[in-house]
Amino acid sequence: MKIMVITAHPDLTASRVNRAFARKASTVPGVYVRDLYREYPEWTIDVEKEQRLLTEHDRIVFQFPLYWYSSPALLKKWFDDVLTYGWAFGTDGVHLTGKEFIVATTTGGTENQYRSGGSNWHTLSEFMKPIQSTIEKCNGVFLPVFAAYHLSDAPEAELEAEADRYASHIVSLQADLAD
Ligand SMILES: Cc1cc2nc3c(=O)[nH]c(=O)nc-3n(C[C@H](O)[C@H](O)[C@H](O)COP(=O)(O)O)c2cc1C
Repeated sequence: MKIMVITAHPDLTASRVNRAFARKASTVPGVYVRDLYREYPEWTIDVEKEQRLLTEHDRIVFQFPLYWYSSPALLKKWFDDVLTYGWAFGTDGVHLTGKEFIVATTTGGTENQYRSGGSNWHTLSEFMKPIQSTIEKCNGVFLPVFAAYHLSDAPEAELEAEADRYASHIVSLQADLAD
């Protein structure tokens, strides 16, 4: 299975968590990791290239820090620009049919805050519903969300363990992920 990780962090060089995760993912055979903000500093997304890369991969991972309960803005623009009518959905928009998608996000908040009755009220899976609906509109398969909480000041060993958990999540079989 060919996997593409699209990392969307405004400054991966200044990141702790997403940088560690991206580095770990890039050590996994068959996983191609990209840095969206570095590729498009002017925010002019090469739609043809993105669509070609999507067709070449079986599973796409969107990896990003949670910003205001959503993705950083360039990834939203990527959805707006790349998932076009007639290509991703609508008449003849069949190119993403059956492809698998995973959202992998990191938070400042704790896991306890992301639950029913917690201070953020909702789980990460609930916050990611707009992306889930986008993927399902394009006939893609939305796999379980990966979330890593409150790691910015975590000891190195904990960060490393979470990076390992992330790497195994993105390569897991669909059946195992859904369990
Ligand atoms: C603009 C901005 C918005 C943020 N919004 C949230 C948020 O809604 N929920 C949350 O838990 N953390 C939020 N955070 C914290 C980041 O998610 C956290 O710092 C990041 O996941 C850590 O990963 P990094 O080391 O790769 O930057 C926000 C941070 C910034 C800069």
